[in-house]
Amino acid sequence: MRVALIGYGSVARAFVRLLDEQKKRFPFRIAGAHTLRHGTAYGPELAFGPAAANVAEFLDKAQAEVLVELSSLAPETGEPALTHIREAFARGLHVVTANKGPLAHAFAALRAEAAARGVEFRYESTVMDGSPVYNMVRNCLPGVRVLGFSGALNSTTKIILRAMGNGRTFADGVAEAQSMGIAETDPSYDVDGWDSAVKAAALANVLMDANVRPQEVEREGIRAISAEDVRAAGDAGEQIVLTSRAETLPGGGIRMRVRPERLPIGDPLATVQGTSNLLLLHTDLMGTLGTISIEPRVEQTAYGLLSDLVDITRTL
Ligand SMILES: NC(=O)c1ccc[n+]([C@@H]2O[C@H](COP(=O)([O-])OP(=O)(O)OC[C@H]3O[C@@H](n4cnc5c(N)ncnc54)[C@H](OP(=O)(O)O)[C@@H]3O)[C@@H](O)[C@H]2O)c1
Repeated sequence: MRVALIGYGSVARAFVRLLDEQKKRFPFRIAGAHTLRHGTAYGPELAFGPAAANVAEFLDKAQAEVLVELSSLAPETGEPALTHIREAFARGLHVVTANKGPLAHAFAALRAEAAARGVEFRYESTVMDGSPVYNMVRNCLPGVRVLGFSGALNSTTKIILRAMGNGRTFADGVAEAQSMGIAETDPSYDVDGWDSAVKAAALANVLMDANVRPQEVEREGIRAISAEDVRAAGDAGEQIVLTSRAETLPGGGIRMRVRPERLPIGDPLATVQGTSNLLLLHTDLMGTLGTISIEPRVEQTAYGLLSDLVDITRTL
């Protein structure tokens, strides 16, 4: 299966390395890659030359069967990924993405467009890297309704808060997250809770049929948290965690909140440190169950993309 990439940053490079390592086991081959400022490449060697005039030209020339969309997140709109995905659907390509923006802004429409075109749309890496969230619900929880969720889903803020707890500065924490390749292209999206709000909207749209936008999430980031706040929480046996929560309201509708919370050390959401993430799903038939990932790296995001590709081949 021929794979076109849009975006060639941390995730795309890890994904290309993974495909190369696993080429004897899996039949996926790179057809090309298109970027914003680094030009366009056609063929598996990824020799970048002048940029295609636009994504339509890239997709027409690359002649792929699936688009792996890995451009930067724009939390307010879901663009440019939203347009890229639609361009791919229009050409009969399946789409895999790690970009949560399109799910947070237009999931229901994209699902309908994919179905109308007879193509698959997969997005396991958008939340918690390659750990099963969407696939767990789809494949392992038939008949279960997700009523809400609670998550500690943003690695960059955990790293910043840990750095501050260890006597380092807020900026040191941002730099550490960037050096690990896990910060958003613009790290203020992590710090100000946008990443968590987009994840909450994406989860609510996919798992709860919510039809919400990130702007509807009550959002407070960690910018106002001081080193003194982190130390005071630690002294009280608590941990500051940027949480993402959703609940179905008694009268209908869904409330979603992102905010820093002081949680007792024993709270499941306070047990995940650094890049580790935890998501608890609150359901009707299965009570509360969760997914945890311990210190995932960008290689696990790449695995989530590979798992989506494998899943698509099973449908063909
Ligand atoms: N990093 C992670 O651990 C992680 C985990 C889960 C999900 N994600 C998501 O995965 C996506 C990629 O993340 P990343 O860390 O790889 O980002 P990144 O390193 O900042 O790379 C972003 C890539 O997108 C390209 N790009 C941006 N706008 C574009 C446009 N209009 N047209 C074509 N290409 C465009 C950039 O092109 P240039 O190279 O020319 O600048 C760059 O190659 C993001 O949506 C992110 O939210 C990341």
